[in-house]
Amino acid sequence: MRVVSGIQPTGDLHLGNLLGAILRWVRMQDEAECLFFLADLHSLSDFIDPKVRRNSVREMAAALIASGIDPNKSTLFAQSAVPAHSELCWILNGVARMGWLNRMTQWKDKAGKNREGSSVALFDYPVLQAADILLYQATHVPVGEDQKQHIELTRDIALKFNSDYDVELFVPPEPFIGGGTAARVMSLRDGSMKMSKSDPSEQSRIHLTDDNDVIALKIRKAKTDPDPLPEDPALLESRPEARNLVGIYGAMVGETDEQVLQRFAGQGFGAFKPALADAAIALLEPLRNRLVELRQDKAALDAILAAGANKAASLAQPTLDAAYRAVGLKD
Ligand code: TYM
Repeated sequence: MRVVSGIQPTGDLHLGNLLGAILRWVRMQDEAECLFFLADLHSLSDFIDPKVRRNSVREMAAALIASGIDPNKSTLFAQSAVPAHSELCWILNGVARMGWLNRMTQWKDKAGKNREGSSVALFDYPVLQAADILLYQATHVPVGEDQKQHIELTRDIALKFNSDYDVELFVPPEPFIGGGTAARVMSLRDGSMKMSKSDPSEQSRIHLTDDNDVIALKIRKAKTDPDPLPEDPALLESRPEARNLVGIYGAMVGETDEQVLQRFAGQGFGAFKPALADAAIALLEPLRNRLVELRQDKAALDAILAAGANKAASLAQPTLDAAYRAVGLKD
């Protein structure tokens, strides 16, 4: 079992990232060989001030380590420091089909009506993601629900490459998605929208860097409805905001929706929200304190990322060489 996953380094880590991906990565470190990377090449699909981009890689590395990614157990690196990702992406571009990429919901959502004005990198984004995964022969890719389609596309690309070039080179990976709300944490302002770095409202998400007062305030202001919580989780189906908050609580304390509702049934949000804020603070405060410490030692972070990139590059090289050979660019 080999685990590979990545996160875009731009924007602060939020509760959706943590519950949907990072805290699950942390748990997998003891069970499998893990590679985790900052997807800084993916961040090129949007224009960002280069100074901001440069700093964001270190900042996200510190956030991951603060959240429990242990560089002694896992290989942690920046994608751009391992050129094999870009090289394999280009090889896979010869196999991926325009029609496949055109069907990607992330492309459709992000490009919106402005397809002509979108970057080529935004369109090609899933092929680079396929390269990230196939380069390391990953068997499991722990992600939130929103990335499932990209992992399925990776399988299609792997299978088409193997079949076109008549090789058994790439391992079609499995998306590894958690259960319940954690797989798709929704915005605090709108239960029908995913919690996302790109939502213009800061109130829609809780950041790892938010202090305790901000966490409590965001939860106090979170959209809800006037009804008390039911005992039966099925009754939350038609109440997206309530379902999201109950699910977030459960994901943070390690309980199912049923267990959470057993405790809070009959109570309104006036009682539930303070308990939710306490749980969020109990989870996030120690991670935030570690982050504040870690981000001060830039040299240590750079050393971790350099060692990770070395390791990743040596793991990637045999597959990259085999891909060059398969397509007839190397003997
Ligand atoms: P990114 O940076 O948007 O998000 C990082 C991880 O967090 C998960 N996530 C969520 N999970 C639950 N609820 C949410 N509201 C939520 N928001 C984000 C994402 O599913 C993801 O697992 N394309 C990827 C990065 C990437 C990658 C890869 C991932 C690049 N190459 C190869 C896996 C394998 C992305 O933009 O994730």
